[in-house]
Amino acid sequence: MKALILCAGKGTRLRPLTFTIAKHLIPIANKPVISYSLEKIKSVGIEEVGIVVNPENIKDFKNFFGNGEKFGLKIEYILQQEPKGLAHAVMVSKDFLKDDDFLMYLGDNLILDDITSFVEEFKNDEDMKASILLSPVKDPSRFGVAVVKEGEIIEVVEKPKEPISNLAIIGLYLFRNTIFEGIANIKPSWRGELEITDAIGYLIKNNYKVKGHVVYGWWKDTGKPEDLIEANRKILDDNHFKVQIDGIVDTSSVIQGRVSIGENSEIINSTIRGPVVIGKNCIIKDSYIGPYTSIGNNAVIEDCEIENSILMDHVKLMNLPYPIDSSLIGKNVQIVNNEKKPKAMKFVIGDMGKVEIVR
Ligand code: G1P
Repeated sequence: MKALILCAGKGTRLRPLTFTIAKHLIPIANKPVISYSLEKIKSVGIEEVGIVVNPENIKDFKNFFGNGEKFGLKIEYILQQEPKGLAHAVMVSKDFLKDDDFLMYLGDNLILDDITSFVEEFKNDEDMKASILLSPVKDPSRFGVAVVKEGEIIEVVEKPKEPISNLAIIGLYLFRNTIFEGIANIKPSWRGELEITDAIGYLIKNNYKVKGHVVYGWWKDTGKPEDLIEANRKILDDNHFKVQIDGIVDTSSVIQGRVSIGENSEIINSTIRGPVVIGKNCIIKDSYIGPYTSIGNNAVIEDCEIENSILMDHVKLMNLPYPIDSSLIGKNVQIVNNEKKPKAMKFVIGDMGKVEIVR
């Protein structure tokens, strides 16, 4: 069995971050979102992974994951030139997939449940032509939804206006090559995309067995900043990082709870209250780093309070008068207190940046 991870989406709701980084590479607990999917894929014994990328983000993925060797995987990159839908992404992956069975993963989705039984059930029943991971949601109209009868899916609808079920398709699918027959028989939807939901609908209508596998654990479609901050909280809470202090902590600093501090980082006269992950080569001085904060490499934080936030590499925060909370701060961002006159706020912010200030 192979795995196909779809990462060609542009991440418009995560701009300006996604102007310079693919949304699937934004760090959660200092690891790219997609690395949690790769771990899941590995956990079920799959080694051959195809990552579907777009012309803008292909380089970032290649730089980070290369041929996958470092991660114990064999990774190939498949270019989807235009965002024409999930079924289109599968279509362009035909050369990679050949006629093999495959696990398809939407790259921005995070799921913490174990997926072993989902995969094993599928492997053990040749008649099952697809199996779809589902989860009950409060707002089914945002998703593809499925109606399940005695474990089998009898109907699927993409973004239903009228609720037909509360079971959402959450982004993990198991397919055999039959799915190509489904894809060949569908037309673009109202949003101009070839929907994988419609291809699944074709399988159902043509009496192929499609299983619905319901999970009840935490999962998230990390499309918006607040989703990433929540996912960061969840991942830090769930012990997905190694508690280890490799940096230097001076005697006037206090470390409380589960904290990881990378090599060459220095904590000076500060309190770090976990769960917190701090990368390499950071300087944290006269500051408070509160729970659910992930700080990338090479950050400088002086005289600041921060919690429940994600800071990417090379962030500089200095002498801030108010605590920072629930924030997502991109690479090389500087937020500093301006001591010089005129005492005014100065901004250099990229397109679609968002600043909320306190008076
Ligand atoms: C896609 C799928 C939808 C699924 C969702 C999960 O929607 O089309 O069936 O429920 O992902 O996140 P999109 O994110 O493209 O709106």
